[in-house]
Amino acid sequence: MSAGAPATLRVADVTKCFGAVTAVDAVSLDVRANEFLCLLGPSGCGKTTLLRMMAGFEAPDSGRVFIGDDDMTATPPHARPVNMMFQSYALFPHMSVEGNVAFGLKQEGLRGEALNARVKEALAVVELEGLGARKPHQLSGGQRQRVALARCLAKRPRVLLLDEPLAALDKHLRERTQRELTALRHRLGISFVVVTHDQDEAMAMADRVAVMDRGKILQIAPPRELYERPANRAVAAFFGDVNIWEGEVVAGNKVHCAALQIAFPVTDLLPVGSRVEAAVRPEQIAFTSIDALLTGVVSDVVYRGTASTYFVRHAGGAVIRVARQNSGPETFQRGDTVGLSWPTSAVRVLTS
Ligand SMILES: Nc1ncnc2c1ncn2[C@@H]1O[C@H](COP(=O)(O)OP(=O)(O)OP(=O)(O)O)[C@@H](O)[C@H]1O
Ligand SMILES: [Mg+2]
Repeated sequence: MSAGAPATLRVADVTKCFGAVTAVDAVSLDVRANEFLCLLGPSGCGKTTLLRMMAGFEAPDSGRVFIGDDDMTATPPHARPVNMMFQSYALFPHMSVEGNVAFGLKQEGLRGEALNARVKEALAVVELEGLGARKPHQLSGGQRQRVALARCLAKRPRVLLLDEPLAALDKHLRERTQRELTALRHRLGISFVVVTHDQDEAMAMADRVAVMDRGKILQIAPPRELYERPANRAVAAFFGDVNIWEGEVVAGNKVHCAALQIAFPVTDLLPVGSRVEAAVRPEQIAFTSIDALLTGVVSDVVYRGTASTYFVRHAGGAVIRVARQNSGPETFQRGDTVGLSWPTSAVRVLTS
């Protein structure tokens, strides 16, 4: 457990297999009070299975799940102070939007003004005021997803587990809902565990991101740390765009890369002769006509609105990605010969 921040929910060495598939492989994880934690990883890496074990819909083969100080491993879902929104959520088709959101609250015994206020508040968060009387079939896919989210929020559990809650929303609504959700954890005092396979969403929302692959957590850290100090190649590659070159440590604390035909300095002190991978983010690489580390030819330019990615082919075979803000006129075109450099501090040496 981290210093000073008590865990609201803790999974300890949890494993779950389905036949020959190990869906979750000895995972340990703390969710802190009021924390917004994102689970990020490729399809099939075990995100939903981990969430289902937190909620109690799946029993781990081994390991334990704690909420506060209580061992809840054998506690059924309805008796846990958590609420889960499923990836394939189902609304009650015969009930109105308000009826759907109110359902769980009525089961808790809430009535009258208190009930109405909670329903209204939850619908306001997901921007569905005014649609309370509609039935699910009268809503768009994104609106239905927001009703499912409101239904979870209204219950105000200690921990909210959301499986891809914003997947059906368009970019603008998605961004607004992201901001609303992150603000809610302070206002309502709840912790969030949110599954996404969108790294931008994870970066925008999370206090910490757990990057998963094949049932394991590769790294869990705040977004900036994951981006700037990825623990290994998989995290570096999954979290943002990156150049990764294989190389060998040579004298002078440099890494020689065959594909780039150069040796460049690194800050990490490494034994001469060791094989490493050097990672440099595209936005850390500058175009330069003086003191270039190497030169190459622009083979492609991908326009991305605020920025463009330049693909620069080097004579040694490597293609280097360079990102530039589009605040000025586009400086280079396909076929241009360019010089590239990067500061030593931009090189992250990956050893695993
Ligand atoms: N009930 C089940 N029976 C058999 N295999 C399962 C079951 N549930 C999940 N799996 C398998 O366990 C692995 C992890 O599945 P899980 O649903 O947790 O992945 P995920 O990370 O949520 O993926 P996605 O991003 O596609 O939703 C997959 O290989 C999946 O096929
Ligand atoms: Mg899933």
